[in-house]
Amino acid sequence: MRFLVFLLVSSALARDPVRTRKVMVVAQEPIATDVGVEILRKGGNAYDAAVAVGFALAVTYPSAGNIGGGGFALVRTARGESSFLDFREKAPAKATRDMYLDSKGQPTRESVIGWRAAGVPGTVRGLAMLHAKYGKLKWGQLLAPAIRLADRGFEVSYALARGLSSAGAKRMLSGFAESERLYRNGGKLFEAGDRMRLPELARTLKRIARRGPDEFYTGETARILAGEMARNGGLITGEDLRNYRAVERKPLVGNYRGHELIAAPPPSSGGIGMIHMMAMLERLDYAKAGLGSARHAHLLAEVMRRYYADRSFFLGDPDFVKIPLARLLSAEYAASRAGTIEPERATASSALDHGVIPPEESPETTHLSIVDGQGNAVSLTYTLNGGYGCGVTVPRLGFLLNNEMDDFSAKPGTPNMFGAIGGEANAIAPNKRMLSSMTPTIVTRNGKLLMVVGAPGGTRIITGVMQAILHVLDFKLNMQDAIDTPRLHHQWKPDTLYLERGWSPDTVAILERMGHKVQTGIASVANVHGILVEDQWLQGAPDGRTNGKAAGY
Ligand code: DON
Repeated sequence: MRFLVFLLVSSALARDPVRTRKVMVVAQEPIATDVGVEILRKGGNAYDAAVAVGFALAVTYPSAGNIGGGGFALVRTARGESSFLDFREKAPAKATRDMYLDSKGQPTRESVIGWRAAGVPGTVRGLAMLHAKYGKLKWGQLLAPAIRLADRGFEVSYALARGLSSAGAKRMLSGFAESERLYRNGGKLFEAGDRMRLPELARTLKRIARRGPDEFYTGETARILAGEMARNGGLITGEDLRNYRAVERKPLVGNYRGHELIAAPPPSSGGIGMIHMMAMLERLDYAKAGLGSARHAHLLAEVMRRYYADRSFFLGDPDFVKIPLARLLSAEYAASRAGTIEPERATASSALDHGVIPPEESPETTHLSIVDGQGNAVSLTYTLNGGYGCGVTVPRLGFLLNNEMDDFSAKPGTPNMFGAIGGEANAIAPNKRMLSSMTPTIVTRNGKLLMVVGAPGGTRIITGVMQAILHVLDFKLNMQDAIDTPRLHHQWKPDTLYLERGWSPDTVAILERMGHKVQTGIASVANVHGILVEDQWLQGAPDGRTNGKAAGY
């Protein structure tokens, strides 16, 4: 009897991750995860698998998987070398600072919906760079599963059918004939078990497989895309496509309680945020806070409040604005900012501004994490920004375009779709990259791979990824529990502490007494997908809030 009680209790509190010995693929959509495993079984490495999963998600996960968007890939090879591939979209050359303001100077919906919301897509260049620098198999082999899925069709899952029937999908896709044709089943809603075929996308992918990434940027695909843009009032030209380059950057490196954090540099606001917030938490003895306690939530909320104030002031495209990186990441700055946190009292966001850094001495997406048998690791987050991007499917090409332009501050000081307030540093300029929150991250201990994590979730990505890491490092949870445990989020403005379902009402009451303006019952603070290496086993964990899948062998 006692044993039975133990079993019942433990299964109610915890979920085992998927455990394998050699390789692990975690992605937000099961068919795509299986594509990754297929590529690894054929002798591909983690990078080959990531490219194949990236293309597969463009078919099976239309709200965020894409070739019409952009993203970041963080690489750490078995030899311990790391690199960051930036294939973030760029503003078209015709973009102007006030392009999304009406005659009264107020932001319009044009940054979110329709042809003008799209930035120049980077995904195909990014995946090609990942393949060229780190892959082993042939490019065509990596596109073959996606082509097969688009051509022959695949079974619509419950999750996809539900997504496509949501109010959000209706809002974004209605009015765009090609999107309605492809993502409605002969005018009716798709149901679980129906087959979805995407023949135009299959043809586009076949050309990219045959001719390489140049097909997307200078070939027939580019010509059709630029032509449709011109016909529909969009800004992206053939020249914008021709000029687009993915960029290899140096990852940021930080430390937390003896662990090395390999993190995303600008134009991501994620790495700086995570490293700086974790430096404040280390000083505040967060590890001793007690999981789920009011102190735990308070310390997180206060470091988040401070960082997001800084994010909105200091951060933008590093190729356009000078970011005081070293000073923002310095121990002194973390100490001085952490010093303003009161142990028992919430700081009002209205009383807080960005920090004064020491003088210079001389901000719908999807994620995949993969580890291969050699120990190569990749953490890749890519996006159309909102679910189904700007709603537009390019006729004859079969893919959805992003609405990433909304990640710029259309009007500095006014919130975007994630409620994030941007400043001058993230104002629109031609060819500039919009600030991102995407935070692909790798954690090592004593030079050995420990964790590969990342997430979709807008501005909540940074705080979501950070909490999954902290739940492992500080509270010793397995990868699945670390991800499934309820999270919270604060982003300075609005001055609201968002708590997911599952926080104790007692904790909530204490937080309110401390002055926090709490909103409970939030469905998700990001969707984290991760891999933890422990005792020679790989623990694979898709976020329990999603329909994701971990698999390997
Ligand atoms: O780059 C960014 O920060 C956003 N475009 C991410 C959007 C996102 O995560 C939406 N998904 N839930």
